[in-house]
Amino acid sequence: MGKTLLITGAGSGIGRATAVRAAEDGYDVVLVGRRKGPLNQTLALLKEGAHSVLPCDVADRHAFRLGLRQVLGEPGFCDSPLVAVFANAGIGGSNEYAEDAGEDRWNEILRVNVTGVYVTLNECKTISHVLWSGKDACRGNKQCLGAVWCAESIGLCDI
Ligand SMILES: NC(=O)c1ccc[n+]([C@@H]2O[C@H](COP(=O)([O-])OP(=O)(O)OC[C@H]3O[C@@H](n4cnc5c(N)ncnc54)[C@H](OP(=O)(O)O)[C@@H]3O)[C@@H](O)[C@H]2O)c1
Repeated sequence: MGKTLLITGAGSGIGRATAVRAAEDGYDVVLVGRRKGPLNQTLALLKEGAHSVLPCDVADRHAFRLGLRQVLGEPGFCDSPLVAVFANAGIGGSNEYAEDAGEDRWNEILRVNVTGVYVTLNECKTISHVLWSGKDACRGNKQCLGAVWCAESIGLCDI
């Protein structure tokens, strides 16, 4: 029997690279991100398997739950059990003090990078393994990156 890995932020960067490697290692992969186009581009790179694409905002609990049920519950989408989650989706770049930061930058970063991880892990709580990476990278440099990254790191500690 196969095994499934769900990856958020799978349309680019670390998420895409992880998906490619996981498919090579025999996982069926559920690719999550807001935009279908980049997810399909990742899908095209994957070694054959029962992979699927789930376009949704990870911070939108209702949409994530509905999408997850569809992908994992319908025959032909994902035939193997979900054994692991990589809660990788997030936004980086400008902090809340940057000149180009909009008024809502603080809220958006916390919504995606903290609430999004919380929603992902909670909605997948029946799985046996949980992994995440990426956003932890900020932890050693809190003092020079801005309060929002510090708040994010602390928020992620106990999820
Ligand atoms: N690369 C670094 O040096 C570094 C350093 C510190 C932390 N990190 C963190 O590590 C993770 C991966 O980094 P990366 O460099 O691979 O970033 P990336 O290429 O920008 O990938 C982030 C992915 O997350 C998705 N995403 C963003 N908001 C989302 C949302 N609300 N719901 C669902 N998906 C969403 C994006 O796709 P859509 O826009 O289509 O949704 C994108 O594919 C990120 O969380 C990033 O913040 C990276």
